[in-house]
Amino acid sequence: MQIVSDLPVLGAVQKASKKLDVRAYLVGGFVRDLLLNRSSKDIDIVVVGNGLEFATEVAKQLKNNATLALFKNFGTAQIKFDELEVEFVGARKESYNRDSRNPIVEEGSLVDDLSRRDFTINALAMCLQPDDFGEITDLFNGIKDLDAGILRTPLDPDITFSDDPLRMMRAVRFASQLGFTLFPETKEAIHRNRERISIISQERITDELNKIIMSSKPSVGFKLLFETGLLNIIFPEMILLHGVKTINNQAHKDNFFHTLEVLDNVAYYSDYLWLRWAAILHDIGKPQSQRFDPDQGWTFHGHEMIGANMTPRIFRRMKLPMNERMKYVQKLVALHLRPIALTHDVTDSAVRRLIVDAGEDIDDLLELCRADVTSKNVEKVNRYLKRFDDVEEKIREVEEKDSLRNWKPPITGEIIMNTFGIAPSKNVGIIKEAVKEAIIEGEIPNSYDEAYAYMLKIAGELGFFPKN
Ligand code: CTP
Repeated sequence: MQIVSDLPVLGAVQKASKKLDVRAYLVGGFVRDLLLNRSSKDIDIVVVGNGLEFATEVAKQLKNNATLALFKNFGTAQIKFDELEVEFVGARKESYNRDSRNPIVEEGSLVDDLSRRDFTINALAMCLQPDDFGEITDLFNGIKDLDAGILRTPLDPDITFSDDPLRMMRAVRFASQLGFTLFPETKEAIHRNRERISIISQERITDELNKIIMSSKPSVGFKLLFETGLLNIIFPEMILLHGVKTINNQAHKDNFFHTLEVLDNVAYYSDYLWLRWAAILHDIGKPQSQRFDPDQGWTFHGHEMIGANMTPRIFRRMKLPMNERMKYVQKLVALHLRPIALTHDVTDSAVRRLIVDAGEDIDDLLELCRADVTSKNVEKVNRYLKRFDDVEEKIREVEEKDSLRNWKPPITGEIIMNTFGIAPSKNVGIIKEAVKEAIIEGEIPNSYDEAYAYMLKIAGELGFFPKN
């Protein structure tokens, strides 16, 4: 408790509590994280009384060095101090829902307040009065659940989830973030109430989904979303990856579980959210492209392009950013087979083409491809990864030789139009593409002069000549 009592803001809370004769408690995630030895910058304080008055007094105690914001409609107040955000609220009878637009009306006791919280591990309160500082109120065996790693609702789970259906996503998110398990009755209730998730805004659902994706082993969360039926509602495309068909005794792998393995592999090396999204979507086009060929067995031709086409639609629906992040994910999905193809055909031109197409994301693409090697056979995995080492080596060599990283073709449309005095047209594109191809194919070196000379030649063949 040493760390907590050292926080100046809590010293001010103690003084305010004494002065106003109002009891104040640390609650929610801060207490949970404190007991789990996790750091947290958001502090929630419940006072049995008026939260606004209390926060105003705390700010006074901090000698006005803090920023105070009062949200009168919601009966809440916020103090920013020392990089900490402290929320104050009077104990209430109804459910806790940060984003609820409903004004808070009914005051309640500490017991009322803790009972309407989401999970027993989030329903712990730490007293902040000088006389009982640090004492924990644990009405629902939250500490026992913390020790056992269990997520359980304080009340009947049907009530807790109907108070705020987002809590179903939160349950899965905490399980994934903390490596906890869902108490069987809690899990069954999520399954029973799953359809209610549709009343929650997409932004809040996606926020939780991204937190699941950012946990150290995201497959834990995705498997729970799958088992509780939530995934089917929030991300039906992923459900289609699930299942194995067998024809002529030949089965393909279950692409849902494969995707989760790839996601965990990527998560092991990178905490870049969008690379993790690329892992989630890399095979999303497989169900649509799946065919059985008596000679070749199961094929998924073109699934990478189908997946790339699906990416903007999924991003839009999920309210994920429709900007260069989406483009990045789309590019990785589209290119994810290319490095594998290079393990068979490692010509300079194929390597150059990949460097040009992947641009500055080539390292992330290789990361995704390595993560995509999933097999129970360790020897096989190692053999594949060794081939990737060779491809990577080759990419470095070609990059160095041709200085292709972040390459822009030396001949632009502008240069072509100015040289030949022509307006934007199909022919400009044809000439530009021909010069780019010649460099990638190694027919001419990657230099401005050689490219310019080649442009003159190609344009001449098309009947264009320099204007002066
Ligand atoms: N809470 C709740 N139901 C919700 C959201 C929040 O009961 N839908 C309660 C919980 O007691 C929670 C507290 O409000 O601990 C604070 O919520 P929030 O800051 O959203 O979550 P934390 O638990 O602090 O966790 P994190 O910061 O990781 O989101």
